Amino acid sequence: MPTLHTPVLLNEVLEYLNPCPGQNFIDATFGAGGHGLEILKKIKLSGKLLAIDANADVSVFVKNKDNKNLIFINDNFRNLDKIVKKNFPYHVKGILLDLGLSSDELEQSGRGFSFLKNEPLDMRFSVNQELTAAEIINHYSLGNLIDIFKKFGEYKHAGKLAEKIIELRKKQKFQTTFDLVRAINLVHHHNFKEKIHPATKVFQALRIAVNEEFKNLTIVLPQAIDILAPGGRLAIISFHALEDRIVKNFFRDLSRAKNPEIKILTKKPVVPINSEVHENPRSRSAKLRVIEKI
Ligand SMILES: C[S@@+](CC[C@H](N)C(=O)[O-])C[C@H]1O[C@@H](n2cnc3c(N)ncnc32)[C@H](O)[C@@H]1O
Repeated sequence: MPTLHTPVLLNEVLEYLNPCPGQNFIDATFGAGGHGLEILKKIKLSGKLLAIDANADVSVFVKNKDNKNLIFINDNFRNLDKIVKKNFPYHVKGILLDLGLSSDELEQSGRGFSFLKNEPLDMRFSVNQELTAAEIINHYSLGNLIDIFKKFGEYKHAGKLAEKIIELRKKQKFQTTFDLVRAINLVHHHNFKEKIHPATKVFQALRIAVNEEFKNLTIVLPQAIDILAPGGRLAIISFHALEDRIVKNFFRDLSRAKNPEIKILTKKPVVPINSEVHENPRSRSAKLRVIEKI
């Protein structure tokens, strides 16, 4: 299947990571390989790329399967340390994390990421994981649902929606994305002046909760710093204000330590230029932050 995903801030990532022949890199969110395969071209056959993704389906995008310089591991990046120890005994010049989900997952995974498609309420990046969106919607308490919609989606009607879900699920369990869209429509009529459909925020919040995205980010950050060789760089693209804050605060605290281990290369986050946002609207909320290990 061809990819529907366009890599975000590709030129900027390549500029900061500056992959050169013979160097080794880690793309911890390989997706369709939009960034990883470009890095691979630049490091040539003498360099190595460790490509990680929680979603096993992306292995179709792993080109040159016989090529020993691209190692693909289907795992969660929160296990980065273990993955690297087992599979990548090399001097690591750069690590990329391009967070969230890919357009392929949104449009063609069949896992209920999009409110425009009627699919099972799943939302897992990895089908090996037990927790699904249906489990959260059908079993979490009122307080937990409100927290998820508020904290991860900044959704204004979090309380009303959580109450509606609990009322509806007593009669019939939620099974599909359209069951959830129906509940959202009952508490919040889409006003066409609103740029973003209300379901966008609710679906984003649920996806973040199902995949424990902020927790995994917090877990991987110190591991990534440890793994980098001196002079190596860590580049992170985030799409959510809270996610960006986690990255920003982590980098700031490390850079201000007594004997700082890193220096920040992006005083302000790098954002896409207008033409990129025009061509790829998904890039509109992207923020890139990069550090260098001292
Ligand atoms: C935004 S996409 C990356 C797209 C890729 N850079 C490209 O241009 O083709 C994010 C990818 O990271 C994966 N992912 C998200 N969280 C993950 C995690 N904790 N561990 C491993 N992979 C994860 C998703 O399955 C998805 O394929």
